[in-house]
Order: sequence, then structure tokens, then C-alpha cells
Amino acid sequence: MKTFGNVVNVFRVLVKGHLSSGMTVLDATSGNGHDTLFLLDLVGENGFVYAFDYQSTAIEATATRCMHNGVLPTNLKLICDSHANLDQYIESETLDAAVFNLGYLPGGDKAITTKVESTAAAIEKALMALKSGGLLYILCYAGHPSGVEEYRYLQLKLSALPQRTFDVMTVDFINQAGKPPVMWVIEKK
Ligand SMILES: C[S@@+](CC[C@H](N)C(=O)[O-])C[C@H]1O[C@@H](n2cnc3c(N)ncnc32)[C@H](O)[C@@H]1O
Repeated sequence: MKTFGNVVNVFRVLVKGHLSSGMTVLDATSGNGHDTLFLLDLVGENGFVYAFDYQSTAIEATATRCMHNGVLPTNLKLICDSHANLDQYIESETLDAAVFNLGYLPGGDKAITTKVESTAAAIEKALMALKSGGLLYILCYAGHPSGVEEYRYLQLKLSALPQRTFDVMTVDFINQAGKPPVMWVIEKK
């Protein structure tokens, strides 16, 4: 079995190493709820997860996946809104981690996808909402037009983040065919 092989696996290994019981995290694109459930399990019942998606079908899918015996955990806040408005729900310097798994809902309408303007606004706000020592994970799929725009924008924007405040790392499978997704991990100092 592969340990890595793609950015989702690398993401999971890194997040497992970083998150622990009681932490507060953001899933900025809950989609079908796989990442939300993964984060909930890691932070445990003393932690807290905010999960955004602007499609109600995605919020419903996330709720269904995260229910335990038909009940939603009280430490999960599902928010059907754009992540560009996250500052209306989350205060500055409260997050231990934030996750942006960009793109469209798997199995859903591919035309409904994250867009560079809202992604840019949301990431700026998420960086403000991170605590010192917090990590922001961005998974970006440059195999479709919106994803190409996001990739180009983020590569420039994140490269220019001040080194005194942030460390930025790229995970890129450079020998894989096609356009495999890339991940940036940003640590707030
Ligand atoms: C690749 S999917 C996320 C996969 C998900 N994390 C999972 O585990 O299943 C991307 C999601 O981003 C959502 N999305 C697109 N634009 C958004 C926005 N501005 N605010 C919040 N969610 C958005 C889409 O509706 C879609 O469900």
C-alpha cells in the first residue's frame, strides 16, 4: 500500500501529525463530508469543526456523513454560505487548522466550482483566523479552467506571503502524467 501517491494522502498524513483532541478547525469546502468527518474524528468531542459549503446538497451530504445514530455532533457547525464570508462566523486567531479542498463537488455539477475571487478572499480571511502555529492546507486541481486560474493566482500570491509571518510549502507530484492536484501548506508563525 502507498503512503503517499497523491496529495490527498499526503494531506491526511500531515493533518494526523498536527491535529489533536480539543483543537478548532475549518473545512472551507465540505462537499460530500469526507474531510469534515476526518477532521471531526481527529479533534474529538472536545474540539470544534466549522464546515462551509455554498451548495445545500453538499451541506446535506456532509450532515448525513457526520451523523452519529441520526444525531449531528454538537461540536460541528455546518454553514451554507460562501467561505468568502467566513469572518462573519469565525473570530481572528481561533483556528488550529483550515482546509480548502478546491474544485467541484465529486458526483455533482462540474460547473459549480470554487472560483478564484472567492477563494482569494476566503484564504486571506482564513490566514487571519489562524492561530500562531496553525496550518492552512489548500488542495488545488489545475485540470479544469477555474482550477487553472486558482493555481496561477495562488502560486503567485502564496509565494509573496511575508516570510517573517508564514512558511509556505508546495506538495507537487512532478513525475505524474496529466495535471495532478497540488497542495500548499502554510504555517503561521
Ligand atoms: C472538491 S469539493 C470538496 C470535497 C470535500 N472536502 C469532501 O471531502 O468531499 C469542493 C466543494 O467546494 C464547494 N464550493 C465552491 N465554491 C464555494 C464557496 N465559495 N464557498 C464554499 N464552498 C464552495 C463546492 O460546492 C464543492 O462542494
